[in-house]
Amino acid sequence: MQKDLSFLEIIERYVESDRVTLPPFDKTALRIQMEIQKKDAGISKIEKLIIADPAMSSQMLKLANSAFFRGLSKVMTIRDAIVRLGLDEITRMAMILTQKKLYTTQDTFIRNYRNDLWQHSLVCALVSQWIAREAGFEDLTQEVFFASLMHDIGKLFLITLIEKVKESKEFPFVPSTSIIHEIIDSQHAIQGYNLLKKWNIPDRYCQVIKEHHDEKFDTGNIPLIILRLVNKSSHKVGVCIDKDGSDEYSITAEANFFGFSEIKLAQLELQIEDASKRVSSHYRIGK
Ligand SMILES: [Fe+2]
Ligand SMILES: [Fe+2]
Repeated sequence: MQKDLSFLEIIERYVESDRVTLPPFDKTALRIQMEIQKKDAGISKIEKLIIADPAMSSQMLKLANSAFFRGLSKVMTIRDAIVRLGLDEITRMAMILTQKKLYTTQDTFIRNYRNDLWQHSLVCALVSQWIAREAGFEDLTQEVFFASLMHDIGKLFLITLIEKVKESKEFPFVPSTSIIHEIIDSQHAIQGYNLLKKWNIPDRYCQVIKEHHDEKFDTGNIPLIILRLVNKSSHKVGVCIDKDGSDEYSITAEANFFGFSEIKLAQLELQIEDASKRVSSHYRIGK
């Protein structure tokens, strides 16, 4: 127990010392999202934002010319890609591409962990849009996508930090997987919140990340409730990191809030399984 405490103390010291950081947050996707929400949203501004990021530009062109659009003329410019894919899809892709970068910069020790984390986060993001539509909050689909994609960013930060602690030899033994999970589970919401604050992400997102595991939820914060529902449901069906089959994830309060029936909840689980397959085949890290 003493060793467990010491390990936690070392983690806390690392957090306080700012010795470990994730790469800077890429705000391109958020800027695109803000742009399309304007009444007079202009394609040229969005086009400029995408062109400024060559990696993102090439991915967008690849997507616009993918098998799905086979038979149509080849898209050569970002402007044509925006027209073909539509502003919603462009924004979603920009979010996926900018976030994915954070997960690919880590090395082997955390490979499995970060792959599962990415899978879980992106599945939650995709399915949160389905929940928003089913619950009558169509206008929140972009917001819930981003909040869900980011909701466990504190876990990515902590696993990166734990890896550094291990490398530093400051700790005399390798902590067990269960200790690592315990620390990450209890600390990631607040660490994620701190990280988002540091990155100057709008406060509404910071609150969602901070409160996503709180016992009670703010009934005025719809994106938070949507995230809680998709997050717990994905744990129930095993699309998560710690696949312990735990049934501590009661979704009753969130489901009741939206008036979701048993049938709707079964559909939700199917959506999660389906999204999980899509992420595995199209959006895996390294793809
Ligand atoms: Fe979480
Ligand atoms: Fe989660």
